[in-house]
Amino acid sequence: MSEIIYDEDKQVFHLRNQYISYVLCVEELAILAHAYFGERISNYSGGRKYPRFERSFSTNFAEITHRNYSRDTLLHEYPTIGNGDFRTPAIEVEHENGATVLDLRYDSYEILAGKPALGSLPSAYLTNEKQAQTLVIYLQDQFAQVQVALYYTIFSELPVICRSVKITNNSNQVLHLNRAMSACLDLPYQDFEIIDLNGSWGAERQISRQAISPGIKTFSSTRGTSSHQQNPFVALVEKSTTENQGQVYAMALIYSGNHEEFVEQDQYGQIRVACGIASYGFSWSLAPKACFQTPEAVMVYSKNGLNGMSQTFHRFINQHIVRGNYQMKSRPVLINNWEATYFDFDDEKIKQIIDSAADLGVELFVLDDGWFGQRENDRQALGDWFENKEKLKIGLSGISDYAKSKNMQFGLWFEPEMISENSELYRTHPEWVMATPGYGKTFSRNQWVLNLSRKDVREYLKHSLDQILENVAIDYVKWDMNRYLTEVFSIELSANRQGEVYHRYVLGLYELMAYFTNKYPQILFEGCSGGGGRFDLGILCYMPQIWTSDNTDAVARLKIQYGTSLVYPASTMGAHVSAVPNHQTHRLTNLAMRGAVASSGMFGYELDPTKLTDEEKEMIQKQISFYKNYQSLIQSGTFYRLRSPFEGNETIWLFVSEDKSQALLFYFQVLAQAAPKLDVVKIPGLNPKEVYLVNGQDTYTGDELANCGFYVFPFLKGDYQARIFEIHQIPSKNL
Ligand code: GLA
Repeated sequence: MSEIIYDEDKQVFHLRNQYISYVLCVEELAILAHAYFGERISNYSGGRKYPRFERSFSTNFAEITHRNYSRDTLLHEYPTIGNGDFRTPAIEVEHENGATVLDLRYDSYEILAGKPALGSLPSAYLTNEKQAQTLVIYLQDQFAQVQVALYYTIFSELPVICRSVKITNNSNQVLHLNRAMSACLDLPYQDFEIIDLNGSWGAERQISRQAISPGIKTFSSTRGTSSHQQNPFVALVEKSTTENQGQVYAMALIYSGNHEEFVEQDQYGQIRVACGIASYGFSWSLAPKACFQTPEAVMVYSKNGLNGMSQTFHRFINQHIVRGNYQMKSRPVLINNWEATYFDFDDEKIKQIIDSAADLGVELFVLDDGWFGQRENDRQALGDWFENKEKLKIGLSGISDYAKSKNMQFGLWFEPEMISENSELYRTHPEWVMATPGYGKTFSRNQWVLNLSRKDVREYLKHSLDQILENVAIDYVKWDMNRYLTEVFSIELSANRQGEVYHRYVLGLYELMAYFTNKYPQILFEGCSGGGGRFDLGILCYMPQIWTSDNTDAVARLKIQYGTSLVYPASTMGAHVSAVPNHQTHRLTNLAMRGAVASSGMFGYELDPTKLTDEEKEMIQKQISFYKNYQSLIQSGTFYRLRSPFEGNETIWLFVSEDKSQALLFYFQVLAQAAPKLDVVKIPGLNPKEVYLVNGQDTYTGDELANCGFYVFPFLKGDYQARIFEIHQIPSKNL
């Protein structure tokens, strides 16, 4: 259950559930101040009312002459600019005369059952109004007549608060919004560290941890997408926080475009952390009576370390972000032809792949890039979403029918947001490319981006993809996006509105994703962007899974999947077994290792099954039946990171079923040792008093597994080894 309590005398708002409390208060002169966020408290009596005392050189208010109350030092809920708080603001509004001062004062509040939708932006959803409550605080700038509505949704069963902001121009002038963070949290001095997820193509979501120091640390993407380089997530942790204990304050943004997370430590050690649309390249024109809705931020508090934080995110994503037919439904084991053939395929080759894959027990065949227009290589045909009957003589329907005759589903790759210079689309509509007049159009992977902020572009895409989706029996779509945005401009917008294009691109993308996912609810959509370049909560509101990385090397994937798991559950991570030598790292790993790593996500193959030996085929059949056995545990179980690939030679992670009756422990060794340490693994999360059978051999009680554990023996021999422990509860008389 959640409650939102308003103490009218003290003007204090207290949001709480069984796990957390969030307290904010209306301070003197109607300034909205932050008081507390953390573990649930039964009552807030005022201990965090900001002390009144003078700080030299601090600012004071225009209305009062005493010097012991200052915006400069106060902890704010939604800080502004220009009148005494010199830290980074949450909002910047430019008036018609160019001024940017904003004086927001508390006006009123509302408490709503459930959670309102965010217009056309994706956001967390409820299946029942009782799952959450929302506090809306209205702030006003009386002079500029700007209203700022702060939304705080507290969930009943999770330590989560979702925040977003709606800014309304009630004046007669046109205002420009140059910054509008989704959430901002001011915390008192504490010795925190910052965790973020950064990376590159082929090495997405690597974990970094660093001390906070005075000044501003900004994490952001200015690439037009959430990016490989910086995931829209940041966490503050105590120095002593580990995977299993300590406090964590985390924020993740439900957004797929330019984003920014910043952490600022002020002169007195106080901390401001915020996230939202990146202010780089952003400016939104607010006509009289118009409003702007920010994306939603998800704030998680954990007192049980990073595993506690991740388990909350995982539950939240599985229950309140991912939606549709596939939300909790088991996903088909797929085979994708990309690494098997690249662009070089024809009917015969595809049929052979389907034949061999069907024999292995694969459930879905995905035809990747190269099936449309004159797409012989990556220099042409993007945008021409019609079949290439020269290449595939039996056509897409023929391939789909063939797969179905082998009891397999059929999936198809698209890259709707792109256009090649050598394409019919470009010859017909050169004006649809994202480009700035007078400048060259920067290439990346030989391609350009379509300007999705244009309605005609979106209508074309709806129409041309519909032609395929309506006429071919398609069960799965891989929606790819293989470059970032440059020369961002739209000839449809006036000079002072060019700062809207990045965000309008994302809104256009969401319109398309909503259109296709609503129209074809039976299709399983998988997001992709050169692997995991757009792995975010925005995409997951439409597509239940995302291709985690183009890097399919099992060793590299340990770090990628481990880092990704900080926020995102296994149910969202596409993970495939590929051939060796690996195409990205040229490493040789054994099939068991590759299978173990991939089966920790949404499982599939990315290789040519016609080239497998009999022994490999047999192993793959076993891998698939193993995976099908445990798929629901992997998809919805509680995930524990037990040993980090960022810290040593071994990686350990664990899935425990909700009813604690079964668990799967994955143990990976990167390099072999001549004189290995005898490693003990302990298995948390089981029922202490129940009895469990490990790998069909040894029995232990849950508390023995959690505290005493067992040796990993015999030693793993050779480099790149995996061992899986299958743990099942058995009747206790068997002990
Ligand atoms: C991207 C994807 C790959 C593959 C290729 C096709 O790189 O991440 O999986 O689909 O595009 O061009």
